[in-house]
Amino acid sequence: MREVWSTADVERLAAERSAPDVWDYIAGGSGEEVTLAANRAALDRVAVVPRALVDVSACDTGCELFGVTSSLPLAVAPMAYQRLIHDGGERAVAAAAAAAGVPYVVSTLSSDPIEDVAAAGGTTWFQLYWLRDREVVVKLLRRAEEAGCRAVVLTVDVPVLGRRLRDLRNGFALPSWVKPVNTDGEVGERVPGDSVIALHTSAVFDPSLSWRDLEWIRAHTNLPLVLKGVLDAGDAARAVDLGVQGVVVSNHGGRQLDGAVPSAVALPQVVAAVRGRCPVLLDSGVRSGVDVLRALALGATAVLVGRPVLWGLAAGGERGVAAVLDVLRLEFETALRLAGCPDVASARRLTVAESPGATT
Ligand code: FNR
Ligand code: LAC
Repeated sequence: MREVWSTADVERLAAERSAPDVWDYIAGGSGEEVTLAANRAALDRVAVVPRALVDVSACDTGCELFGVTSSLPLAVAPMAYQRLIHDGGERAVAAAAAAAGVPYVVSTLSSDPIEDVAAAGGTTWFQLYWLRDREVVVKLLRRAEEAGCRAVVLTVDVPVLGRRLRDLRNGFALPSWVKPVNTDGEVGERVPGDSVIALHTSAVFDPSLSWRDLEWIRAHTNLPLVLKGVLDAGDAARAVDLGVQGVVVSNHGGRQLDGAVPSAVALPQVVAAVRGRCPVLLDSGVRSGVDVLRALALGATAVLVGRPVLWGLAAGGERGVAAVLDVLRLEFETALRLAGCPDVASARRLTVAESPGATT
């Protein structure tokens, strides 16, 4: 792999090396992609106010997430079908995450089995989609626990798939070797003018998921339960009242409701509503170590990183993912020091101002 100095460098390599329809599936958002763009714009408008005259000769980037130490306040977001992007698939990404000392979230729709991913040896969290077949859900929860996963991340923003126009126009389909292996499923054949991801979702996902189901989930797992896709402060407060152990402020990287509030805009109100009772993570648009610092300064406990990790996978398999995580680590450590923070906890005490962001 050529040397890279930012995740944007890796993005360029990945775009060169990916099939156009696969690239569209990764990069795309829903509708007019307004929320996709707004996630970036909102992060760019967060100006961190650095502290002066703090000894940062030692700088600790580590933090604890659901009882396990992570080398960074960052985990790899759950993303479906990673074998689409590279033969190494989920196992390669999980191996790179393990080597970097950050958690990897394995999707219900992973193309390598949960057990193989967990065998990479790092910290693994299991992402659950609410499936119509409740017996499959029970089995998945049991398998996740037996494989040694440390948390269950229930995604609550996909009752149906967002309208991803790129995939619809491409008639997006999966090659024969990429399957949702955890559910023994098949996504089906190409349908011109439609997306197999959307068709499979509407066949298999249960859009009736509601508050009353959380109790059922908690009764079927001993793992900490984290809700991913919370943007409303009242929802976050209700989740914590019900004993949920974490929330992820996310709009699914602009892939679900186009027009949804950017995560960085929603975050402060969620943090205020949660009042420190559980970790609050943020995803959607994180592209640099400075973005991680911005999220922490807004009150996040940690972030999930999505597409940049897939760019690494496309650009160079496990080594490509390792390069992305290394760039993020270097950037974050530098940003922490420059902001006058010897550790992650002090970053959460920084103040922020609103800036016009990058103007071109
Ligand atoms: C996703 N995301 C996702 N989320 C989830 O809970 N389960 C999943 O299976 C997937 N699959 C998936 C596939 C692809 C290709 C992408 C890009 C995203 C959403 C993901 O976890 C995360 O919320 C966003 O990707 C975060 O935004 P950024 O970092 O990509 O901007
Ligand atoms: C996606 C789904 C599968 O975002 O979560 O593509």
